[in-house]
Parts: sequence; C-alpha cells; structure tokens
Amino acid sequence: MLRRTMLAVSASDRIRQIITAAPYARDVVARFVAGEGQDDALRVTGQLLGRGLLVTLDHLGEHTTDPDQAAVAAGEYIGVLGRLAAAGHARGGAAEVSVKPTAVGLGLGEHGEKTATENIARICAAAEAAGTTVTLDMEEHDKVEAVLRIHRELRGEFVTLGCVIQSYLRRSESDCAALARAGLRVRLCKGAYDAPAEVAFTDRRDVDRCYVRCLRSLLAGSGYPMVATHDPRLIEIAGTQAILAGRPVEAFEYQMLYGIRPVEQRRLAASGAQVRVYVPYGSDWYGYLTRRLAERPANLAFFLRSLASRR
Ligand code: FDA
Repeated sequence: MLRRTMLAVSASDRIRQIITAAPYARDVVARFVAGEGQDDALRVTGQLLGRGLLVTLDHLGEHTTDPDQAAVAAGEYIGVLGRLAAAGHARGGAAEVSVKPTAVGLGLGEHGEKTATENIARICAAAEAAGTTVTLDMEEHDKVEAVLRIHRELRGEFVTLGCVIQSYLRRSESDCAALARAGLRVRLCKGAYDAPAEVAFTDRRDVDRCYVRCLRSLLAGSGYPMVATHDPRLIEIAGTQAILAGRPVEAFEYQMLYGIRPVEQRRLAASGAQVRVYVPYGSDWYGYLTRRLAERPANLAFFLRSLASRR
C-alpha cells in the first residue's frame, strides 16, 4: 500500500521539484547513485571490479520526449562503453551496460519503437566493439510487449543482448519458459513499477512464488540466468536450485543494486559466485530514487531524516 502510494505521489511534478531542489538531496542520492558523470561511473566501476564484483552501468533518464534527446542518450552509452574498453573494464563482459528503452525513444509515439530499436542497435554495436554486453531494462507493464519485440528483433545480430523479466507480472512465467528455451541472457527481478491487478500479482507472496517458478525454468534452461534480488530467501533458493540443475557458478550470476546490501554482495562473491552490481549514474536520478524509496519504508525514513536534520 505504502509502495503504491509512494509511486503515485512521486509522479507529481510539484513533489519532484521539492525533492530535487532540497539542499541535501544529493548527499542522500549518493548512497544509490555513483555520481553525475562518466568519471564517477568509471571510478565506481573500477572500485567494484577491484573487489571482485561485476558491473552493469545505467545512465539515468527515462521517458525521453524527443528524438534528439533519445539520440543523445544513446550517444552517452556509446561514449561510456568506449571509456570502459579503454580502461580495460569491459574485458570479458566484466562491466556492461543496462539501457531503459524509454530513455532511447520507446515512448515517442508512432515511431518510438523504431527509434528505440535503432538506438539500441547502435549501443549494441558499441558494446560488441568494446567486448561486452547490453541488457534491456524492463519498465512499465504496457511496454513489455514492445521491449520483448525489440529484443527478438535485435538478438539475431547481437546474440548476447539480454532482457529483464519481472515476476510481479502474471505473464512472466510463460515469458521465462520461452526465453530459457532460446538460450538467452535473462535478468529476473520482482518488478519496481505500479501495475494493475489484471496484469500483476498484488500480494508480495505471489510475486515471490512466481519468482521461484521463473527461476526454476531459467536455471533448467539453456540460457544465462541473472538472479536480480536482494531477498535473502530467494538468493538461498537460487543457490540450491542452481546446484540441483547442475549449473556451475560461472553459468549464472547474482545481481544487486549499488548501495543495497553491499556486505552481502561481497560475501556472495567471496563464496565464488558471480555478482554483478547495477550502478546508476547521471543527473536524472529522481525516478530511480523514488522507486528505491518505495521499496523500503526504512529508506524513505532515512531520506526524510537526512533532509530534515541537515537544513
Ligand atoms: P524485496 O523488495 O522484497 O526486498 C528483499 C530484501 O532486500 C529487503 O527485506 C531488504 O533487506 C533488501 N532490500 C530490497 N530493496 C531495498 C532497498 N531499496 N534498500 C535497502 N534494502 C533493500 N525492476 C524493474 O521493474 N525493471 C528492471 O529492469 C529492474 N532491473 C533491476 C536490476 C537489478 C540488478 C536489480 C537488483 C533490481 C532491478 N529491478 C528492476 C528492481 C526490482 O524489480 C526490485 O524492485 C528490487 O530489486 C527490490 O526487490 P528485491 O527482489 O530486492 O526484494
């Protein structure tokens, strides 16, 4: 309930203005975001790789409203991929990128899908040249069909292009089954957006149950599962299911968000598992931050306390 309210309230322009203008907001944001520019992204990537973790970089921004902006967003990815390669961070896919389809044009009306497909193809070509991969983030439920279509269209040429499945959607079990058979890179998460009961489970227990069913299908399939969760129970289930499915540690990976359960990230990596950290950077942090706050009341309290105590 709090999560839905929080996601709804955060859509207000007035609230956005208040939060983004708050004097100490940026200090709090720093817990979840690497910084505003490529230098920050490269610095944090180097630190995480040095600790034995893998990285996926996300340039913050979503729901781009004009084609030029969408091209600029794609250019940002191409630029950062070049810098990852130059620093040796892209080698073997150690650091890759995650792309939100609406950041590169998906929401641009009639030609949105075509624009997004072309921009994502440019990013994939740059990633291939850098020796690394791209994963398409999944956004609101009404974008799922288009994103999976883009993924299908491009994966013939870019075989390592990954996509995300959200276990809160009722359709996801069958999507996972199809993607697992096709041998693809699939990130499984619970889902961070608001979605109506016709398409999404509303009880957290049902979301978790669906996560486990999807996990089983991906681990038993021929692809490369990316287990994106901070949930201790699901992490344990994933480890056990991977053993039962006969998957060695290099045949799947865990993924967590930058700033969330960093001790667990290092513990898993020290145990021999592959762990990738999703690292956002950029100045357009509002949407990302409010989704993180909505997930966890303790984060919201931390954020409000920080704003209040440092005025
Ligand atoms: P859940 O929210 O149930 O949390 C389980 C436990 O994890 C909590 O009890 C707490 O200990 C810890 N925890 C979780 N969130 C926390 C937070 N914000 N702060 C502190 N502790 C927290 N979603 C989406 O819709 N599309 C996408 O493309 C992606 N991509 C993505 C990539 C990666 C690498 C990750 C890890 C997640 C995503 N997500 C996403 C977000 C995902 O859908 C989900 O909203 C969050 O991961 C939180 O869900 P958990 O699975 O962690 O479980």
